[in-house]
Amino acid sequence: MSVTAQLKSLSLDNINPHVKEAKYAVRGELAVRSEKYRAQLNKGEKGNLPFDTVISANIGNPQQLDQKPITFFRQVASLLENPLLLEKPEVLKEHLGYKDDVIARAQKLIKDVKSVGAYSQSHGAPAIRQSVADFIERRDGYPSDPEHIYMSGGASSGVNTLLHIICSKPETGILIPIPQYPLYTATLAVLNARCVPYYLEEGKGWGTDLNAIKESLEKAKQEGTDVRAIAVINPGNPTGSTLSPEDITAVLKFAAEEKLVVIADEVYQTNVFAGSFVSFKKGLRDLQKAEPGKYDNVELASLHSISKGMVGECGHRGGYFELVGFDSEVAAEIYKFISIQLCPPVIGQCIVEMMCNPPREGDPSYELYHKEYYGIFEGLKKRAFALYDAFEEMEGVECQPPTGSMYLFPTIHVSPKAVEAAKSEGRTPDEFYVSRLLDATGVCMVPGSGFGQKEGTLHFRTTFLAPGTDWVGRITKFHKEFMDEFR
Ligand SMILES: Cc1ncc(COP(=O)(O)O)c(C=O)c1O
Repeated sequence: MSVTAQLKSLSLDNINPHVKEAKYAVRGELAVRSEKYRAQLNKGEKGNLPFDTVISANIGNPQQLDQKPITFFRQVASLLENPLLLEKPEVLKEHLGYKDDVIARAQKLIKDVKSVGAYSQSHGAPAIRQSVADFIERRDGYPSDPEHIYMSGGASSGVNTLLHIICSKPETGILIPIPQYPLYTATLAVLNARCVPYYLEEGKGWGTDLNAIKESLEKAKQEGTDVRAIAVINPGNPTGSTLSPEDITAVLKFAAEEKLVVIADEVYQTNVFAGSFVSFKKGLRDLQKAEPGKYDNVELASLHSISKGMVGECGHRGGYFELVGFDSEVAAEIYKFISIQLCPPVIGQCIVEMMCNPPREGDPSYELYHKEYYGIFEGLKKRAFALYDAFEEMEGVECQPPTGSMYLFPTIHVSPKAVEAAKSEGRTPDEFYVSRLLDATGVCMVPGSGFGQKEGTLHFRTTFLAPGTDWVGRITKFHKEFMDEFR
């Protein structure tokens, strides 16, 4: 027993072992090291560091990387936080540039929630859920019921809720795409349930491969796993890809055949660079329309968030999930489960409402909103392709073209000498590469092993959120030097 264990009630030897097992690389060792470098630079103690700034390309945190908040959202939020300002509309309008629709929206939301300092209903304020349902209906062309909408503190808490409900025993398994955003594997580890991995097809733009999914399911069943659900991330993190409508339909049909709940993580639904986004909800309703009765029992939970897209308000912790086809008694247990946490942040709920119901053409704030929104969209798209082009030029790097989300996930081939050097540091080769990159350039990325990758392949993930292209040059230079050093 360690000395600490003798002095304290809690030690690593007696806390929940499942928490210890969970891994979450996007905020792991390299992220911690990068923060140390940042603090060092902020104190003016550059020392031997060969760079002047740290670029946190490890996490999709838009405003940390200088994405500006959308004015409409923040103007309304400021009035929600300090309603006294509403007593001075002339000051707001004449001196601060607030438009009439900002004031009207704040008044409406205050009426809906009373105060952002008050708890709301556990699944969110009714008027906000209605607004979300209206948005879904406009997006998909099919009705949505506000009673089936559950507001959440970001999509993370929604996923946490769903997995808590589904994972009833250690043998419960959930099909998880690999590579995946590690929220899924980490939460399954905490819940002492099983991740049933299915590999995405890198060569086909990281699409789903139904045969691979079937094989994974069969293998899991043989091992005694009770597979209850399939998770899909579309657009993908870390893959930077968007699923085709055919892939979506195939997954839904498979889920119907195998009686699997579908968890559709759609937090990147507006970060789409090729074609247009198709929701799983629309895919399901289309199937139900085409073959009435056949897909009525499919259970679908789809998630969205204010953290990504052009909103980027991840610090406000807002999101929702919509349930379709769930048994009402199960839904009641979900309601009870979220009630234990009382309610998601009410300011976050209000920002979800604004995301779902932004200024429309003809509204006083529309012009600025539109300019800011598309400015961010175009900037992200431009940087995605600049980074992609840079990867295309790099020796031993292959990257799928960016079609969605905020990431690129290239394959990297390193020499046996680099593999040996990694081994001698007790690291996997991808960790070694990314660790060297951080020390040489200040750019923090995440090794592919943090998301899962096919055996024998190596990747790294980077966001393309950081402004400018200087840091892309830093990566290119480092890569060349790395390849030369270990040739
Ligand atoms: C695929 C995916 N799902 C969920 C989340 C969590 O987002 P939120 O901030 O809404 O909890 C993220 C965050 O990066 C993500 O990439």
